Amino acid sequence: MHRKDSGWSGRFAEPVADFVLRYTASVGFDQRLALADIIGSLAHATMLHRVGVLSSQDLADIERGMAQIRDEIERGAFNWQLALEDVHLNIEKRLTELVGDAGKRLHTGRSRNDQVATDVRLWLRGEIDLLTEGLRAVQGALVAQADTHAATIMPGFTHLQVAQPVTFGHHLLAYVEMFERDVERLRDARRRVNRLPLGAAALAGTTYPIDRAFVAQRLGFDGLCENSLDAVSDRDFAIEFCAAAALVMTHVSRLAEELVLWMSPRYGFIRLPDRFTTGSSIMPQKKNPDVPELARGKSGRVTGHLMSLLMLMKGQPLAYNKDNQEDKEPLFDTVDTLRDTLRAFAEMIPGIEVDAAAMRRAVLEGFATATDLADYLVKRGVPFRDAHEAAARAVRQAADRGCDLAELPLADLQSLAPNVSADVLDVLRIDGSVAARGHLGGTAPLQVQRQVAKWRERLAAR
Ligand code: ARG
Repeated sequence: MHRKDSGWSGRFAEPVADFVLRYTASVGFDQRLALADIIGSLAHATMLHRVGVLSSQDLADIERGMAQIRDEIERGAFNWQLALEDVHLNIEKRLTELVGDAGKRLHTGRSRNDQVATDVRLWLRGEIDLLTEGLRAVQGALVAQADTHAATIMPGFTHLQVAQPVTFGHHLLAYVEMFERDVERLRDARRRVNRLPLGAAALAGTTYPIDRAFVAQRLGFDGLCENSLDAVSDRDFAIEFCAAAALVMTHVSRLAEELVLWMSPRYGFIRLPDRFTTGSSIMPQKKNPDVPELARGKSGRVTGHLMSLLMLMKGQPLAYNKDNQEDKEPLFDTVDTLRDTLRAFAEMIPGIEVDAAAMRRAVLEGFATATDLADYLVKRGVPFRDAHEAAARAVRQAADRGCDLAELPLADLQSLAPNVSADVLDVLRIDGSVAARGHLGGTAPLQVQRQVAKWRERLAAR
């Protein structure tokens, strides 16, 4: 019975088992390709008409039927049938119901193998553009906070130990750089996504006088997949996208981890708006950073999808194998997870409130200007290794006294290093320390402002 529905009953002696039907069907998830499927079919039909394979009447019927199907899908009125296996057969069957023989002619010179590859590429291309916008929004939010906090001083860490003072604006702009490379990677992957497989048919091409360049141009593809076997079988374009997505999530996850740390009362550097935190069902005092924590967790899931697709591909002989139907759920979930995560961050970042005093206290606890003291001595002729040693002794003295380096009496510093004079305070104070790093890439407030201006221009240009 099901065979009859599928349109290839002739070859089979019995209907497919119900369980097998459920096992092999993809319509439950590949429905989301419907719009791409319709657009691709219309371009194919238009081309078939141009080259004289379809009559004007057939083309008009197909266009009319597809318009109605599109409307039914958008209204949620389309009757998706598991027995029709996937999005392609569901739409084709409905088309034939609506317009008769013209619907049956649509599949001339085409296979679901080149059809599905075309649909996924069309769909993914659009999603990449939206995700790039999402990344831009996160970058914009970070740049705005960096502007506000160009001169807010926090501890910079290495090994999660206080290392040197940095500005919070500079710290946030580090993520803007990471996301910029992510945008570049997505755009680069898009160039290889945006190739037309249609025309490859099942695997060997077709005997009809097709015009692939016309279809490509009509669908906005940058070029053609130039080998039919490759066109229907490789999913490297999806894998590459997932690799880029996994890197985005890795960057998000690092930022998420920092937000979690900074929100912890042990740090107390920031507060997140209540709408991005949740309480505890048992501990009334808790405010948990659920959104950053989930983002950190979801980065693992996206990396997992990348692994799934790599494993899916690696054992497949040319050309198409049904294995490839398994590319969709990991790919779709990658897109969904990334989209939602970027949205959450774009909305959450503007709400970050900074406790500048807590940040400053943390820097002062860590003798963060010890390197500045060593550099000061070097500039006065002390060899770097000796200067390092003298600065280390100064740290020990400050620790013994329970004060910051800038609070040590000048006489004590001079007993450690005779070349010290009163202007040493300029470098021992954390504001002087950051201000002195004004070169390109440095943490000085002025440099942060310059970078903010540069990013504003770049993000406006897109
Ligand atoms: N649903 C299938 C997929 O996702 C469409 C292609 C089916 N082709 C085939 N020869 N069974 O890959």
